[in-house]
Amino acid sequence: MTNSTAIKIAISGAAGNIGYALLPLLANGYVFQNQPVELRLLEIPHAIKSLTGTRMELLDCAFPCLTNVMCTTDPLKAFEDANVIVLVGGFPRKKGMARKDLIQANTKIFTSMGQAMNEVASPNAKVLVVANPANTNCLAALTEASCIPSKNFCALTTLDHQRAKFQIANRLGVRANRVKNVTIWGNHSETQYPDALTGGYYISESGEKSSLKTLLANDLEWAMNDFVNIVQNRGKSVIEVRGNSSAMSAAMATADCLKTWLVAGTKEGETVSMAVYNDKGYYGVQPGIVFSFPCECKHGEWFVKEDLQLSEFAQEKLKVTESELFEERDAVQELVGTSRKRSVSIVSASSSMTTSESEVSLSTAAESSAQFLRSSI
Ligand code: NAI
Repeated sequence: MTNSTAIKIAISGAAGNIGYALLPLLANGYVFQNQPVELRLLEIPHAIKSLTGTRMELLDCAFPCLTNVMCTTDPLKAFEDANVIVLVGGFPRKKGMARKDLIQANTKIFTSMGQAMNEVASPNAKVLVVANPANTNCLAALTEASCIPSKNFCALTTLDHQRAKFQIANRLGVRANRVKNVTIWGNHSETQYPDALTGGYYISESGEKSSLKTLLANDLEWAMNDFVNIVQNRGKSVIEVRGNSSAMSAAMATADCLKTWLVAGTKEGETVSMAVYNDKGYYGVQPGIVFSFPCECKHGEWFVKEDLQLSEFAQEKLKVTESELFEERDAVQELVGTSRKRSVSIVSASSSMTTSESEVSLSTAAESSAQFLRSSI
């Protein structure tokens, strides 16, 4: 059942709640279209039996593009020549556990994941970190995996982005897909700054654009306070009502992040939120942390959109989430070290995309991304 041309995708924590909802989206063509895919499901020993049951279900779906499903507890097997690595498994917060202890427990896991992928994964592998604390876990993994460019890593803030889109759409009484370019800045935590007012816009069915700042001009109190609080605390609210953390929406967001980043790209003039390694000091944020920015995606790469004008209010919000990320980094500094062994430069959108390149259509971008995926096999 193996297929040497299949995209090799490793998913850690595959037996968990998000894993269960995510696997069909990876296997059924939602993310990688008609490309054959091979799944390597990574778990800890106590979950391997349940994971084997999930594997049976995946096979029973008879997905046409699914060439092989492997279950393992060994990261070296899961990551061997992997093209895409999705890190969902992590240490859960236990009752009474201090945040610093949670961060350190996870850093140990993500440091060893980084070492394993450094040893055996494709040097072109793309790595998406979902497990919390997502930004700092991502920093730990990319610091260790020095053979893989830091630009190939990202932590998930797509779910926060989608939550923000929905809240704005609901407030304006429009459909969520008509709301564009909201941004999640900073950490995937309660200090994040969900921002509708810097560059966000509504596009009507007939293609007419109106800035969200104008549309919300009489509702600024809501946009600057309630909206921000709702999105920052949405994960907690779901837990309170559902009795369990977000899984379906987190899996959808994971799939959408991979699809936009690696396959479809963003449409002309549109951005998504991605937490990426900031070695350039975008928007005045100090380099050395994984920070969520507005990004454009093309040809399997992300580019931070750099020309937005931040209000003083927004700059203050960015400072809050930036200092939390540095506190997290400081809490794990001894475990992670200070820098990558080999630095890899990040190319910005403005310096790498010419006007004609940025006019490339979505289908051309999708084709190029598919080519990129094939070439990384
Ligand atoms: P879960 O507890 O249902 O599943 C986690 C799975 O990871 C478990 O099956 C566990 O056995 C496995 N695991 C633990 N340590 C592992 C290791 N070292 N190697 C491989 N597997 C390991 O949790 P759920 O709901 O699936 O959430 C997963 C993570 O995603 C959590 O850290 C959660 O906080 C985070 N999350 C992130 C979101 C985001 O937007 N970035 C949104 C929602 C959740």
